[in-house]
Amino acid sequence: MPRQHSCLASFALVLLAVVSAVFAGSVGCGKTPTLKSGTYNATVNNKNRQYILKIPDNYDSSKPYKLIFGLHWLTGTVEKDVWAYYGLQRLANNSAIFIAPQGLNNGWANTGGEDITFIDTIIKTVEADLCVNEKLRFSTGFSYGAAMSYSLACSRPDIFRAVAVLSGGLLSGCDGGTKPVAFYGQHGISDQVLTVAGGRQLRDTFVKANGCTAGNAATVTKGSKTHAKTVYSGCSSGHPVVWVEFDEGHIPAPQDGATGTSGSKTWTPAETWEFFSQFT
Ligand SMILES: *[C@@H]1O[C@H](CO)[C@@H](O)[C@H](O)[C@H]1NC(C)=O
Ligand SMILES: *[C@@H]1O[C@H](CO)[C@@H](O)[C@H](O)[C@H]1NC(C)=O
Repeated sequence: MPRQHSCLASFALVLLAVVSAVFAGSVGCGKTPTLKSGTYNATVNNKNRQYILKIPDNYDSSKPYKLIFGLHWLTGTVEKDVWAYYGLQRLANNSAIFIAPQGLNNGWANTGGEDITFIDTIIKTVEADLCVNEKLRFSTGFSYGAAMSYSLACSRPDIFRAVAVLSGGLLSGCDGGTKPVAFYGQHGISDQVLTVAGGRQLRDTFVKANGCTAGNAATVTKGSKTHAKTVYSGCSSGHPVVWVEFDEGHIPAPQDGATGTSGSKTWTPAETWEFFSQFT
């Protein structure tokens, strides 16, 4: 009964398409993992590189997890305490695999694209062993780590679903920047290290690439100790742009009602997590 066969075959094909569209799991799904939380080395362009991997408690290889990169600032570290992974580890509540790669000379100069290649290598290694939702990869970072997250959005728009650029500048390059990637950015109006004007330029790359309606964003007055958030309109489906300006300088964890940076009082993690977790 060839007719019935072909009917079954096309049913199976449709089912496969539906399952793969819904599942989007990496090669590591269903495997008993060999990787554990800890520090790993990778050789990239003949250089020894390191990264810290944090696997969720009660990891389940049948469940595709979010993959979130937390990129350190110059000489900084992002894997500690309440502020772990820019505050996202706590909010993720074991729904994400976190990675903190180490930049060369504690920065992200990305010379000749070598840091992009490093991230590519980590993704390949981790996803061959662990179950990652390939549609839910994210990167965030402050300062140099913001610049590198922006660079990843420029160069790897089909790999990363969204980035959060915290007080960034054009330090790690932008090879691309013409394809849409969901973009969250925040910047202090009194930033003396990387200017707010420079931060707005990074944002505008994705206002344009995402097809949003360009226009002035909300800002705050000096001394107000507040922040102002703009959600851009008109962006193409799945590619929102959100921009926050705050009354402070070059700090990663601004808080309302006070100056200075506080890992436990800042609104940065909540804003970032709200942005990342809208994608499912
Ligand atoms: C990883 O790199 C560090 C720093 O270069 C080195 O001390 C360590 O021995 C390396 N570990 C492995 C397993 O190669
Ligand atoms: C974290 O996840 C666990 C297990 O899914 C759930 O029971 C718990 O309510 C969650 N906690 C928060 C704060 O969302």
